[in-house]
Amino acid sequence: MIEASSGSTAVSEAFFARLIGLPFVAVMPASTSPEKIALIEFYGGRCHLVDDPATMYDEARRLEAECGGHYMDQFTYAERATDWRGNNNIAESIFEQMQAEPHPCPSWVVVGAGTGGTSATIGRFVRYRRFNTRVAVADPENSAFYGGWDTDSSDVVTDTPSRIEGIGRMRVEPSFVGGVIDDMVRVPDAASIAAMRWVSRILGRPVGGSTGTNVWGSLTLIEQMRANGESGSVVTLLCDGGDRYLDTYFNDEWLVSKGLDITPYSEKLEEFGRTGVFAG
Ligand SMILES: Cc1ncc(COP(=O)(O)O)c(C=O)c1O
Repeated sequence: MIEASSGSTAVSEAFFARLIGLPFVAVMPASTSPEKIALIEFYGGRCHLVDDPATMYDEARRLEAECGGHYMDQFTYAERATDWRGNNNIAESIFEQMQAEPHPCPSWVVVGAGTGGTSATIGRFVRYRRFNTRVAVADPENSAFYGGWDTDSSDVVTDTPSRIEGIGRMRVEPSFVGGVIDDMVRVPDAASIAAMRWVSRILGRPVGGSTGTNVWGSLTLIEQMRANGESGSVVTLLCDGGDRYLDTYFNDEWLVSKGLDITPYSEKLEEFGRTGVFAG
């Protein structure tokens, strides 16, 4: 069993491959965090690292042919991996959990896109159920999704990989269904990391970088709602845990080495905490 992955999916697949007794190979960018690599290896998987993330897909196909294996190809199939009409998918769980809230039908659901599977499932679900909810995708720097959505084109590519693991791709992945996304928010990487650290501190549990992107995107929409005098709820997702990023996003030296200054963004988050006004 072979998969191209930025890491998180491969951790789960390694677990299940071992459960059914199949050898598993994860084809991943060389920049993948060592903690994720260790987890995949812990579950008996092998990590095949490539220097250029754009070659991941071809490399996975090559390995598939070479060993007579099966390439899972989440970037094509994630949008159809679950029944988006319901049946205990992520969208149904969100709306069920929201039943106990003062505004049970969210004004916005804000998610990131890696495969695009999560946004496709939620976007299709809210349309199918005719909920008065809009879906926004928060996109990091160097991602092709924003440009692809904006110009309604699947041909957009970028020449630099995303620094926020799990989200932002150099091409518009086949699983990204732009037609069910109502808005996209571009989030600077330093803002994602500032928000990731801010949320981790408030919750008392470390969250990963894409959670920071989601939260920054959500605050942008919340501020629009506040300015328009609207009330309602905004739902976002906590993606992976921050323990995987102690050597990167939580490490100040790593930030300096990448030329990222999170200070101005952290100040805006602190100000939001004090005043309820977000000047992002
Ligand atoms: C940490 C993290 N955040 C967000 C995502 C994005 O989810 P999706 O692939 O459904 O677009 C992933 C994806 O695989 C991920 O690993």
